Amino acid sequence: MTEAGLQEELERILDVSNRDVDAVDHAVARGGDAVFTWDYEKGARPTLSRLYEKAKVSQWDGERDIDWSIEVDPTAVLQAFDGRQAFGHLAEVPGSPLRNFGPAQWEELTLESVNWRLSQFLHGEQGALLCTAKIVESTPWVDAKYYAATQVMDEARHVEVFAKYIDTKLTGSYQINAHLQMLLDDIVGDSRWDMTYLGMQIMVEGLALAAFGFMRMMSDEPLLKQILGKVMADEARHVAFGVSSLKEYYAELSDVEMRERQEFALEAAVRMRGRFAQQEVWDRMGIDKKAVAKLMLADDEPGFGDLLFTKIVPNCRKLGLLDASGGWLRARFEELGILHFEDWQDTDAESGELDDAGAS
Ligand SMILES: [Fe+2]
Ligand SMILES: [Fe+2]
Repeated sequence: MTEAGLQEELERILDVSNRDVDAVDHAVARGGDAVFTWDYEKGARPTLSRLYEKAKVSQWDGERDIDWSIEVDPTAVLQAFDGRQAFGHLAEVPGSPLRNFGPAQWEELTLESVNWRLSQFLHGEQGALLCTAKIVESTPWVDAKYYAATQVMDEARHVEVFAKYIDTKLTGSYQINAHLQMLLDDIVGDSRWDMTYLGMQIMVEGLALAAFGFMRMMSDEPLLKQILGKVMADEARHVAFGVSSLKEYYAELSDVEMRERQEFALEAAVRMRGRFAQQEVWDRMGIDKKAVAKLMLADDEPGFGDLLFTKIVPNCRKLGLLDASGGWLRARFEELGILHFEDWQDTDAESGELDDAGAS
C-alpha cells in the first residue's frame, strides 16, 4: 500500500469509534422470517444430527466445572499481550509515542491490553448468543434447529464465564469496539438466513477459534487455560456446524448469489483486521492512537492479527467461496496477505480432535 493509501485507510478505521459508551443496551433491527418446518424427520442431515447428539452430552457447567478459586495475576495472563513484549520494538522507532515509556506505563499497557481483548471476546460471545437464537428461528431444516438450540446454551455459558473472569480476575473492562459492533449488527440483521451462519459461524467464530487456540497454547495462567479448553471444544462444533450447513446450501447457489457471499466474507475479514489496533486502549492511556496504529501497520513482522485467519481461509475454501466468480475472493485474500493459510486444516476435519482435548 502507498504511504498516502495507508494514511487514508488509518483515518477511516480510527475515525469510527463507540460514541455511546454509557449505554446499557443496543437494539438492532433484524430482518428475515421465522420459519416453521413440518418436516420433522430427524437425521435427514446426518452430520448435523451427529453434532446435535454430541452437543447434548458435552454440556458443562460454568460454575461447577471451572475452578474459580484459582488466583490470577492480571499482569501475567498472557505473555503475548505483555505490553513491552508486544509493543516494545515500536518504542525504538524515532518519534514513537512509546519511546519514553517507563516500567509503570508498560505495566499499565499490559493490563489495559488484556482487559480490552477479553472484553471484546465477551461481546463477541454475546453476538454468537443472539445469532444462534436467530438461526433456531430462521433455518429451514429441523436438524439445524435442534443443533442451533444447543449452541444457544453453549454461548450463554461462554458469555457467563468470560463476564465472570473479567469481573472477578481482571482490573477493568471495555465497551464494545465500534468495528465489532457494526459487524455483529450486519450479521444478526441480515434477512438472508445463511448470512448469519456465514458471518458468525465461519468468520467470527473461525477467528475466535484461532485466537482461543493461540491463547491457550501461549498462556501460563491456569484458570484462563481451563476456560479456553472448555470453550474451544464447543467452538469447534459451532464452526463445523456452519461449514456442514453451508456446504449443502452453497452447492445450489448461482454465481451472482455466491458473489454476494464472497463480498460479505471479505467485508467481515477487513473489519476484523481493522479492530486489532486496540484504539480504545491508546485513547484511555492518552496516547496518540493514529501514530501508534501507523507504526503497527508499517511493521513487517507477521503479527497475531494475521494468524487469526488460519481457520477462516481453509473453511472458505471448503465452502467454494475462494474460487467462485473466477477466484474473486482468492485474489482479495491474497492482497490481504492471508491466502497462504488456505491449505491449513479445515474445521470439519479438526472438530473431533478438539473435542477430545477439551474433555481432558
Ligand atoms: Fe462462544
Ligand atoms: Fe460459538
